[in-house]
Amino acid sequence: MTDLSLGFAAFAAPRAGIVAMFCDDKLRFGTASAKALGRAMDVVKRAAKAENFKGKRGGALVIPVPHGLPIERLVVVGIGNSEKLDPEDVVSLGGAALGHAPGSAREITIFADRPGKNFAPQQIADVALGVRLRGYRFDRYKTKIKDGDDKPAARKVTIAVSDVAASRKAYALREAIAEGVVVARDLVNEPANVLYPQEFARRAALLRKHRVVVEILDVKAMQKLKMFALLGVGQGSARDSRLVVMRWNGGKKGEAPVAFVGKGVCFDTGGISIKPAGGMEDMKGDMAGAACVVGLMHALARRKAKVNVVGVIGLTENMPDGNAQRPGDIVKSMSGQTIEIINTDAEGRLVLADALWYTAKRFKPKFMVNLATLTGAIIIALGHEHAGMFSNDDKLSERLTKAGKETGELVWRMPLAKEYDKLIDSKFADVKNTGGRAGGAITAAQFLQRFVADNTPWAHLDIAGTGFDSRQSEINKSWGSGWGVRLLDQLVADNYEA
Ligand code: BES
Ligand code: MN
Ligand code: ZN
Repeated sequence: MTDLSLGFAAFAAPRAGIVAMFCDDKLRFGTASAKALGRAMDVVKRAAKAENFKGKRGGALVIPVPHGLPIERLVVVGIGNSEKLDPEDVVSLGGAALGHAPGSAREITIFADRPGKNFAPQQIADVALGVRLRGYRFDRYKTKIKDGDDKPAARKVTIAVSDVAASRKAYALREAIAEGVVVARDLVNEPANVLYPQEFARRAALLRKHRVVVEILDVKAMQKLKMFALLGVGQGSARDSRLVVMRWNGGKKGEAPVAFVGKGVCFDTGGISIKPAGGMEDMKGDMAGAACVVGLMHALARRKAKVNVVGVIGLTENMPDGNAQRPGDIVKSMSGQTIEIINTDAEGRLVLADALWYTAKRFKPKFMVNLATLTGAIIIALGHEHAGMFSNDDKLSERLTKAGKETGELVWRMPLAKEYDKLIDSKFADVKNTGGRAGGAITAAQFLQRFVADNTPWAHLDIAGTGFDSRQSEINKSWGSGWGVRLLDQLVADNYEA
């Protein structure tokens, strides 16, 4: 949900509202911006001197009601060394430009040029992407913010560019990605009384509008498939579980798809092994993996990616109840392997056990990547800067690492090794669902690997530290980050499109 409209126009003298422009660390401006400002450039130079502003990256000069201009605020955003700009830096510039406008601003113009070689259309599109992501708000439950307070009824952002048609065209692809991130953020931010498995499935089914084929499996259908690991997690909830399969067929007919699998625990109380009260409200975000998969499918479908893609999400709610599963219970997964439940709070791996097995067996994908807010241990290991990556495939790992650097959604590879297996061997069943505190993120991944059928190339991304309550940046001020949509879109675009 966004109340921001974004368009492109030619450079013109500023007329109203907020204007943002860029300069490098030698305080040089693009020629079109300088020309549009005309004599008011003097004010900018004097203000820069007075404020000791040099145009460093990450810095900004804010000039309220600049003399000689009929506007409310002029913002100069520092580019730093404008020769050394990664795509990710350019996206951040867009976020920064919008971020220095007051929340109440209705009309914002961004002069998108720079000194020396001007922005290419692709870079303009990245600036616009940054604007869209920074402009995201989740305030549908705030009934008391009035228009004019912190929130204008609508915000109009105009990006001034030298080539309007080329910029629009480049942005069409980026807009699909921005929308996908917004879809994911909305799902993560939504509270669990609103977004329970059935409602989540209904929202995933909205992808049909964009020609994604969506199947929804209910409890009965999952029982038929013998998905008793997933079903066991949901049996204590008044809300029934669902498994949703989404397919985008943009590639060659018959070509094996790439697959993405998400943990969708709509709320994780811990079950009978109940969590402490403090911070438990965050567990409405325990479906961030599934949200990412839906957002990614949206992005790929909207930009008509030339690839066959499958998205599978396991949706359930982990509640304590007279019917809930107990520590000591033994369940049989779809794979046939039996699992001893030691801790009902280690539920994500149970959901994924069946979702992964099903995906590999039914679709025989080129690879599968799963995303899950799986362990607190990965937050201890990597903080909120990297997601943990566990993989049985070096090539896939390298590609993910590269896509991470390109998008700023970073992954760090963690080990898998048979030596950890003994920690999850069970006295009574084939495997147990926890391996103790030591290496907690690794034993969780090691558990998942047992449910990857036929040696399918696979990567598990543990996004407990990045999916929600995540790093705040120029392009993310949201609690639910939508992390992974941009990463995986890039992975697909770089390697798997015809
Ligand atoms: N959803 C949690 C993991 C989590 C914790 C995500 C904090 C984000 C923030 C997961 O289901 C869980 O409870 N994991 C347990 C596993 C343990 C019981 C082996 C954990 O990490 O403590
Ligand atoms: Mn849990
Ligand atoms: Zn969980």
